[in-house]
Amino acid sequence: MRIFSGIQPTGRKHLGNYIGAIAQYVSSQERGEGIFCVVDLHAITLPFDPAELRERSYDTIAILLAAGLDPARSTLFRQSDVPAHTELTWLLSSLTELGRLQRMHQFRDKSLAQRELVSAALLLYPVLQAADVLAYRAHEVPVGEDQREHLELMRDVARRFNSRYGDGEDVLVVPEHRISQVGARIMDLQDPTSKMSTSVGSEQGTVYVLDEPKAIEKKLKSAVTDSGSDVRRDPQKPGVSNLIEILAAVRGVGPEAIESELADARYGELKGAVAAAVVDYLAPVRERYDALRRDERALEAILAAGAERAEIRFGKRHIGRFGIVEQGPDFLLKSWCLRHGSPDGNKRHEESQRGPKAFPHGCPREFAARQPNSPLAPSIN
Ligand code: TYM
Repeated sequence: MRIFSGIQPTGRKHLGNYIGAIAQYVSSQERGEGIFCVVDLHAITLPFDPAELRERSYDTIAILLAAGLDPARSTLFRQSDVPAHTELTWLLSSLTELGRLQRMHQFRDKSLAQRELVSAALLLYPVLQAADVLAYRAHEVPVGEDQREHLELMRDVARRFNSRYGDGEDVLVVPEHRISQVGARIMDLQDPTSKMSTSVGSEQGTVYVLDEPKAIEKKLKSAVTDSGSDVRRDPQKPGVSNLIEILAAVRGVGPEAIESELADARYGELKGAVAAAVVDYLAPVRERYDALRRDERALEAILAAGAERAEIRFGKRHIGRFGIVEQGPDFLLKSWCLRHGSPDGNKRHEESQRGPKAFPHGCPREFAARQPNSPLAPSIN
C-alpha cells in the first residue's frame, strides 16, 4: 500500500498538525510505503516571503524527521522539486468544476480573510492537492478532519479521469482518507469553537510543537473551560471536550478511558494532566529537532534524494529503465496526450514506451525530456 500526505511549510507547526497529521505519518510507516511532501507550492497561494518560505521548509522537514519519519524507509521531498505536480494540476484542472472550487470552505474562508490579492492559485489549491496524491497513485492519505472536503474532490476528479480517459481501466487510484478517530480536529485552547491554527488562532490558544515545556504548561493550564464541573465530552462543553480529546490522543487511548479515569476530577486536575502529558509527548521531538535543523546541508541532501526517488520510483525515469509503465505522473500525462481524441491512443501509448522519438508530434513532457540537460533526459534509461 502506498501512503501520501503533504504539509505546508508555513508558520510554526502546532499540536493540531502533530496529533492530526504528523503522528499518523510516522505510524503509517509500519503499514506501507510512505511518501511525504513539504508542499511549498501550496504555501505560495497566500502572500509569502521567498526567504522565509525557504527557512520554514527546512523547519518543517526537520520537524518531520524529529518526529520519526525515516528517509531510508519513506520518500521525503519538497513539492517544487518534482515538476510533475504542477503539470498534472493543469491537466486535472480541466476536469474540475469551477463552481465546486469556489464553494470549497477553505477557499471561502481564506479569500474572505485576504486583504490583498486573492490569487487564482488559492482557488486551484485543491487541484494541486489532488495532483500530489493522484500522481503517485497513492491508496491512503492521512490528514486531519479539515481536509475531508479536499479529499472528496480528489476522489471525484480521479473517478472522472478514469471514466473519461481510462478506457475501462482504473488508471488513477481513488484514494481513501485516513482521518483518525481521536484528535482529528484539535481546537484552539482560548476559543475551543475554532480549530487550532497558525493563521487564525490565538497565540495563547496554540501549543507549538517546539514550545518550551513551561510555555506548554502555561497555555494548557490557562485553557478556557466551560461552566459546570464534570469532566466529560459534550457539545455544550467544547473546552473540556477538547482537553479530553488531546489527552486521549497523546496517551493513545479512547476518550471514554479518560472520562472514566477523571470522573471525579476537577477541571484544574484535568488541565494539569493534559499539560504533563503534552510536555512528555513533545519533548523527544524538541530534543531531536535542534541538531537536525542546524544542518541545512544534510536537510537539502535528504530533500534532493527524496525528489530523485519520487521521480525515479514513481515517475518519468521509471519508464524504460525498469520496464514498468503503469506508474507515475508520466503515464498519466502520456495517457492523456495520446488517447485524447485518438481512436488508437492505446497502441500509440504502448509504442511511446519504446522511446521518445516515436512521438514527434510530442506531448509536452516528451519535448521536455528531449531537451539537452533536462533533468528528465533519458540518460538514466
Ligand atoms: P497544512 O500544513 O495546513 O496541515 C497539515 C496537516 O495538519 C492537519 N491539521 C490538523 N489536524 C488536527 N487538528 C487541527 N487543528 C489541525 N490543523 C491542521 C491538516 O488536516 C493536515 O493534514 N492541504 C494540506 C496540505 C496538502 C496535502 C496534500 C495533504 C497539500 N497536498 C496532499 C494531503 C495530501 C494542509 O492543510 O496542510
